[in-house]
Amino acid sequence: MPDAVGARLDSAIRLAEQAGKMAMAMRPPPGAVRGKLKAPQDWVTEADTAIERFLSEQFAAAFPSDGFQGEEAGVSRGGRLRWVVDPIDGTANFARGAARFCVSVGCLEGTTPLLGVVVAPALHETITARRDAGAWLNGRPLHAADTKAVDQAIMEVGWSRRRPNTAYLEVCERVLRDGASLRHGGSGSLGLVDVAAGRLDGYAELHINLWDVAAALVILREAGARVSDFLRGDGATAGNPIVACAPGLANAWSDLPGLPAAV
Ligand code: IPD
Repeated sequence: MPDAVGARLDSAIRLAEQAGKMAMAMRPPPGAVRGKLKAPQDWVTEADTAIERFLSEQFAAAFPSDGFQGEEAGVSRGGRLRWVVDPIDGTANFARGAARFCVSVGCLEGTTPLLGVVVAPALHETITARRDAGAWLNGRPLHAADTKAVDQAIMEVGWSRRRPNTAYLEVCERVLRDGASLRHGGSGSLGLVDVAAGRLDGYAELHINLWDVAAALVILREAGARVSDFLRGDGATAGNPIVACAPGLANAWSDLPGLPAAV
């Protein structure tokens, strides 16, 4: 019999994989972006809304006393344990038929992330983690990279219109000046998962929201990556900057402009 957290992890995996199938069935074909703008460069599609509603209803039925927060509808229920869901992270990619998007499901107790599930259906990946029990990609253990030299590293710097381009460019300039290589993949959750999987050495973003990182926070910790204290202050409600990296690069990247240190 799984315990309370184990039961939730099992449900989260099953429901996020079902949500991933819904996303694949609803993904627009390649071409111009198909969706509506919530703000400049901030897209929502019919799939975002439908998947969030599906997950909210399913978690309410399975765990009626749990809270629920989603990217599109906000906080719809309170509770000691709460689900935090991004129905589609990487919506701009999804909305033009690209493969780099995922469903992200986290469960927190207060400010403690308990479990995380990220399903990237077009990449055929399910990433899971439970606090103090490890992180897995398609069932195999995940480990952050052992990179120690910044001039051999790859960093993704996430971008949104929520912070000025000048601040974004300062971070990029510093990463390049250090001799590292730069990426921007359009999904914060998958960028952070890539750090946990050792496929990237770092991910930094000047502002990101809880639903983008709720699952990844526990995945990163369990994979041995360093990550900044995202939930400090009002991070859970207003978002915060984030830096996550391979442990051997935490020192080198402790003073990126406008960003906290990974600890
Ligand atoms: C966005 C993506 C993007 C990140 C932004 C997020 P969405 O989420 O994760 O990569 O840079 O900060 O808002 O809109 O695709 O769910």
